[in-house]
Amino acid sequence: MTRVFSGIKPTGHLTLGNYLGAMRQWAAVDQHRADALFCVVDLHALTVHHDPARVRRLSRQAATLLLASGLDPALCTLFVQSHVDEHARLSYLLECVATDGEMRRMIQYKEKAAREQRRGGSVRLSLLTYPVLMAADILAYGTDEVPVGHDQTQHVELARDLAVRFNQRYGHTFVVPRATNPSVAARVMNLQDPLSKMGKSDDTGPGIVYLLDEPDVARKKVMRAVTDSGRDVVYDRESRPGVANLLEILAACSGGNPEALAGVYESYGDLKRDAAEAVVEVLRPVRERHGELCADPGYVEGVLREGAERARGMARPTVDAAYRAIGLLPAGSDTGAPVLNAVR
Ligand code: TYM
Repeated sequence: MTRVFSGIKPTGHLTLGNYLGAMRQWAAVDQHRADALFCVVDLHALTVHHDPARVRRLSRQAATLLLASGLDPALCTLFVQSHVDEHARLSYLLECVATDGEMRRMIQYKEKAAREQRRGGSVRLSLLTYPVLMAADILAYGTDEVPVGHDQTQHVELARDLAVRFNQRYGHTFVVPRATNPSVAARVMNLQDPLSKMGKSDDTGPGIVYLLDEPDVARKKVMRAVTDSGRDVVYDRESRPGVANLLEILAACSGGNPEALAGVYESYGDLKRDAAEAVVEVLRPVRERHGELCADPGYVEGVLREGAERARGMARPTVDAAYRAIGLLPAGSDTGAPVLNAVR
C-alpha cells in the first residue's frame, strides 16, 4: 500500500491556504487510499522566534483542526513530531549527507532569514537546517508520496536528493519520495497582496482567511480582496493575479475549474460574492466540529498518544537501519540485521 506522510507547522492559526492546499486532500482522499501519517511538526516551529506557551496552544489547536477537517484516527495516524524521537535522530544523520550550499539555496530559507533580519532578530541555525529535519520526517516512514502545497515542493525535492545520495553511499535504506499537489489551489495567495502566498506566519490579517474566522469576518475578507485594474473576469495568473486567486478559491471550494468559472462572471463583484459564500460554506463544518472537539480535550490527547505510539513503531526500524548503514556501532540490543530489511 502506498505510504503517505505530510505535516503542518504550528507557527500561527491555520489558514484557508493550508486547508485547500493540503488538509482537505488529506481527509477527503489520502487517508482513504493510502497508509497515511499526518503530523503536527512542532519542532519546526522553534526555528524562528517563538513563545513556548503559544507553540503548545497552536500545536493542540492544529491537531484539533486536523480532526475537525475530517482526519479519522481509525483510517490514518495523527501525531505530534516531538513525541517521536526518530525524527531528530534521523535528522542528524541526514545533516551528515546534506551540504551547506544545498541548504542556502532553499527559497524559504532565503525569504525567512531576510524577514528575521529585517525585524532585527538573529537567524537561528535550525532555520538553515530545517529542510533536513523535514527530510527526516518524510524518510523515517518509508514515504512514497508527500501531499503538499506548491511552496513545499523544493523541500520534498531535497528529501528525494538526500534519500538517493544516502542509498548510493551506504546501501539501500530509504524509499525515494515524491511530492503531490492538489489540481487547484496548490498556492492560495494573500487576498490583499495576490503576489504573496497566504501564509499563517504573516502579519497581514485582512488578506488571510483563518479556518476559525467567524463567517462574517471570512466573508468580509473575501469581499475586500484586492482585484486587478481590468473589468472583465479572465483567468490569468500573470496579468490578473487577484482575480485568478478568487477564481481558484471559488473553484476549489465549489468543485469547479477556474477557467470555466471565469466565463460565468461578468463583474468582479459577483465573483467576490460567490467566492465569499463558497469559503464560508466550506469552513462551516470545520468550525462546528472544532467547537465540539474542544469540549473533549481528552479525546484529542488520546488520539495523539496512540498516534505517536504507532508512528514510533513504524519509524524505528528504518532509522535503526540508517544508523547501522552509515557506520555507527549497534547498541547491545540492536541485532544489526541487514539494512535492506528496513525497507518496506
Ligand atoms: P506549513 O505548515 O507551512 O503548511 C502546511 C501545508 O499547507 C500548505 N500550504 C498552502 N497550500 C496552498 N496555498 C497556501 N497559501 C498554503 N500555505 C500552506 C503547505 O504547502 C503544506 O502542505 N515545511 C512544512 C511542514 C513540514 C512537512 C514535513 C510537510 C514539515 N515536515 C514533512 C510535509 C512533509 C510547512 O512549513 O508547512
